[in-house]
Amino acid sequence: MATLNIAVIPGDGIGGEVTPAALHVLEAVTRPAGVQLVATEHPWGCDYYRETGRMMASDALEQLRACDAIYLGAIGHPSVPDHVSVWELILPIRQRFEQYVNLRPMRLMPGVAGPLAGRTAADIDMVCIRENSEGEYAGVGGRVHRGTPHEVAQQTGVFTRMGIERVVRYAFEVAQRRPRRLLASATKSNALQHSMVLWDEVVDAVAPDYPDVTCRKYHVDALAARMVTHPQTLDVMVASNLFGDILTDLGAAVSGSLGVAPGANLNPTRRHPSMFEPIHGSAPDIAGRGIANPIGAIWAGALMLDHLGYPDLHDRVVAAVSQVLGDGHVRTPDLGGTATTRDMTAAIVAAL
Ligand code: NAI
Ligand code: MG
Repeated sequence: MATLNIAVIPGDGIGGEVTPAALHVLEAVTRPAGVQLVATEHPWGCDYYRETGRMMASDALEQLRACDAIYLGAIGHPSVPDHVSVWELILPIRQRFEQYVNLRPMRLMPGVAGPLAGRTAADIDMVCIRENSEGEYAGVGGRVHRGTPHEVAQQTGVFTRMGIERVVRYAFEVAQRRPRRLLASATKSNALQHSMVLWDEVVDAVAPDYPDVTCRKYHVDALAARMVTHPQTLDVMVASNLFGDILTDLGAAVSGSLGVAPGANLNPTRRHPSMFEPIHGSAPDIAGRGIANPIGAIWAGALMLDHLGYPDLHDRVVAAVSQVLGDGHVRTPDLGGTATTRDMTAAIVAAL
């Protein structure tokens, strides 16, 4: 029997509610397929921080290194500054394990009412490949003259030819595997005359290696508008860390709800584990009520199975999600219904 060793970090808020839902679905799909899922849960997050002064154990990255993949719920609590929770848990994992691709599908599922009138599942099927290890979130900069009227903060973007090239190539490869074979590169080289000009140059240099993919550059603001006005013209996008972060919240919104959108932090070389998480946060406004939509978390689990060599199990989970949404009987409040996290999870397991 094949065994998958998954390190699980449920984290904070609704992370603790949607993670068990996702594991329940993953077990329901793997067990009959003869795959044993061994989940090792870690108590890291904001509660752990309040007890220990750290977001994770001091040897957390060593503990995580040996697993097949990491599954993350959500991180963040009003009692801990967000830059602490993000910089001491999510970003160290992404950076240390060189998860340089952040892959985020954005699909309007059948039966889900998108906010764009008249759009159907055929119109919205995009995937964003976000650079995940450098760029605007490189962490370089500082503050001087704190608290004085002439205080200064500098946040420096770091863009490397190697970092851009590897994520752009990954995006071209994803585009090659999809029927439409379109790639949109998000740039802003009119205003960011150093970093984004390098980005464009690398895209131009790499494009001839993928002659079967049609690649177009868009300024990121125009691309954001296009996602709303002409989503059917978009297929794969490649974007820097900040641009991709913003575009994918927009993509989740036009797909009906932030609660359905999944994400994968991939190390395509497989030298280190990759990490899978819904794109939403810990949603303190609804945490503890059992009404969070578990679909983003479940779909993220499906992406994990795909990465671990089980594309057929990925497809079965996504088909079950699609069927439950298409039936329209079970809907969590973010989709306009009254179902609980547990109801939605049970319906998806039943559809499997
Ligand atoms: P959020 O994603 O937690 O919530 C935004 C809105 O979407 C809220 O109204 C929430 O109720 C709703 N929502 C999110 N997920 C949902 C779901 N599964 N079902 C139904 N409704 C859902 O973003 P926000 O409010 O900006 O951040 C809250 C905390 O989460 C902060 O501490 C932030 O730093 C953290 N955060 C963590 C992330 C992560 O762990 N990867 C990502 C984004 C934010
Ligand atoms: Mg985000």
